[in-house]
Amino acid sequence: MNAIEVNELTKIYKATRGGVEVTALNNFSLSVAKGEIFGLLGPNGAGKTTLIKTLLGIVYPTTGTAKILGQPIRDYRIKRKIGFLPENHKFPNYLTAEQTLKYFAQLSDVEFKDINKQIDKLLSLVKMERWKKTKISKFSKGMMQRLGLAQAMMNNPELIFLDEPTDGVDPIGRKEIRDVLENLKNSGTTIFLNSHLLSEVELVSNRVAIMNSGKLLTEGKVEDLTTSKESYIIETANAIESNLLQTTFDNIRLKLETSHKLNVNVKDNMELNFVIDKLRKDGVNIKTITIQKHSLEELFLSLIADERGSEK
Ligand SMILES: Nc1ncnc2c1ncn2[C@@H]1O[C@H](COP(=O)(O)OP(=O)(O)OP(=O)(O)O)[C@@H](O)[C@H]1O
Ligand SMILES: [Mg+2]
Repeated sequence: MNAIEVNELTKIYKATRGGVEVTALNNFSLSVAKGEIFGLLGPNGAGKTTLIKTLLGIVYPTTGTAKILGQPIRDYRIKRKIGFLPENHKFPNYLTAEQTLKYFAQLSDVEFKDINKQIDKLLSLVKMERWKKTKISKFSKGMMQRLGLAQAMMNNPELIFLDEPTDGVDPIGRKEIRDVLENLKNSGTTIFLNSHLLSEVELVSNRVAIMNSGKLLTEGKVEDLTTSKESYIIETANAIESNLLQTTFDNIRLKLETSHKLNVNVKDNMELNFVIDKLRKDGVNIKTITIQKHSLEELFLSLIADERGSEK
């Protein structure tokens, strides 16, 4: 059974007071397996938060259906099994970390006798024990996000939704959050996270989806998405003649970066070997060949650019 199944969801925000109608989700389908960390990427306004809010029942879909942990999203009982860290969340400044978590414990199903134990467990999980009695007004952004994570884990959820969990957090804080997510995943929790921080998502997710203007553009394992467009750097001991490249390889994209360094864009191994054979036949002495993976960021930018181009 999948943890999340989204079936052709469309969400249209109606125009209010002179505003414009917005299609935030456009026939959007997706599934997330149990136990994985799934990263949803998209630029500002892509519809990421709308998707999470729809799955949580905060926003109602215009058309389409979705299931969480096998139950239709309309079924309020699934909320017992899920956790949520909203984007830009705010807790009252005058509360301490402990008081904040106590408040959320009382809102969820934690039994009264277990509340203190659960709060200590969560604070230790997010490495915030030291700040238990400190007021939130003293907290950094990273500490706020970690407290938010603790809050989202209050009811030991099977599935947790995190909307921009590392937004505004410095690299050390981001690493700490990643560690918390890894631990959570190892304990069997499914994690769905939204982000526009590509490198973050790349580091932590098993699978990712990229969306823009309410539509799914692509999805898959990070390694598969980033190796689908391969290029190689061929370094040579002697100089490569630029006119050799113009005449011999008509359909292959080659770029001479320096006289001893050639960037080759091929569709498969055969093509790479063809290039190598030709070069060697022409007296080129090859020193090294290295594969160059396209980063998720490059894929993201090219997909969004293609989409923007096709809208014109
Ligand atoms: N309550 C609302 N009423 C009207 N339009 C809305 C509402 N909420 C979101 N939108 C619009 O829907 C679109 C998608 O917004 P959403 O917040 O889901 O995007 P996002 O991908 O989470 O963006 P960000 O990265 O900035 O958080 C945007 O154009 C936004 O202006
Ligand atoms: Mg958002």
